[in-house]
Amino acid sequence: MTGFSVDWLTLRETADGRARHAGLNRQAISLLKNRDHELTIVDLGTGRGSNVRYLAPILGGIQFWQLVDADEGLLRSAIIAIGEWAQKQGWSVNQDGKRIAIDAPKGRWTVTTELADLDQNLDHLRLDDADLVTASAFLDLVSESWVDRFAARVASSHPLCLFTLSYNGDLVFDPVDADDSWVADLLNQHQGTNKGFGAALGPRAAGYLKDAMANRGYEVVTGDSPWHLDDQSHAEEAELQRVLLSNWVIALKQWQPQHGSRLESWLDRRMAFLESGFSTLRIGHEDLLCWVDDETSLPH
Ligand SMILES: C[S@@+](CC[C@H](N)C(=O)[O-])C[C@H]1O[C@@H](n2cnc3c(N)ncnc32)[C@H](O)[C@@H]1O
Repeated sequence: MTGFSVDWLTLRETADGRARHAGLNRQAISLLKNRDHELTIVDLGTGRGSNVRYLAPILGGIQFWQLVDADEGLLRSAIIAIGEWAQKQGWSVNQDGKRIAIDAPKGRWTVTTELADLDQNLDHLRLDDADLVTASAFLDLVSESWVDRFAARVASSHPLCLFTLSYNGDLVFDPVDADDSWVADLLNQHQGTNKGFGAALGPRAAGYLKDAMANRGYEVVTGDSPWHLDDQSHAEEAELQRVLLSNWVIALKQWQPQHGSRLESWLDRRMAFLESGFSTLRIGHEDLLCWVDDETSLPH
């Protein structure tokens, strides 16, 4: 168990899809399009497999996905969710335990799962054949040393890397409450606590990976992919705000119980904005794509 629930990952998937930086994701796809073999894709911290549902149809062709997570229940739900999604599109689905094969008009995709703690097992992960190593909403959990190990790990086979939706510390509440910036500061400090990989990079994650990969000779591009949670335009976004605000306060109260009553009062005021139908929340994320353009330019 890593503490991420199926319900939470289901709730956020649509907002995540809307938020991803379209240009950068298109660029990743065009860099992969000219490969004339089955594409091997490794998804780190896959959760319910949202990356498969986002990328597989736009990539097309023959793909082999390896979904990695430390949470066995999430991996089971990923296979179920991918099967249900494919069936809903009218595509042919064959499931055999932890492996699922999908025949779609745009391609054939085989998806397998691997239960692994990515802190303990990064060095044992099969990345050498990977065309693409990807992750969404995962990078901000890891530490500096994990990124250093990751950059060293991919240095010999240099797959494309696409890390999307890394939290960048930017939080904007509307309407404004006097305690918003106090809570935002606390949250950004909490983002740096240990999430299973040592002190987490939190808001610094995309910047740190960018430098690590650039130092290894990779070309790196980043793009903003914020959530604009607006309870007026999309039905699920009010619920997303409600769950997010409540979960923040639960986590912050556990971490700094002395602030419990001030946090509860802030939550009550923010929930009142939400119930009145006027609450917007902008949460900054970054997408990062990196690839090797010219292998002869790589440092030795
Ligand atoms: C915020 S969720 C993102 C899930 C999914 N990528 C998505 O975008 O919906 C973070 C994921 O990282 C996984 N995770 C956290 N720590 C991990 C670890 N040490 N090893 C492997 N996976 C881990 C969690 O189980 C969870 O599925």
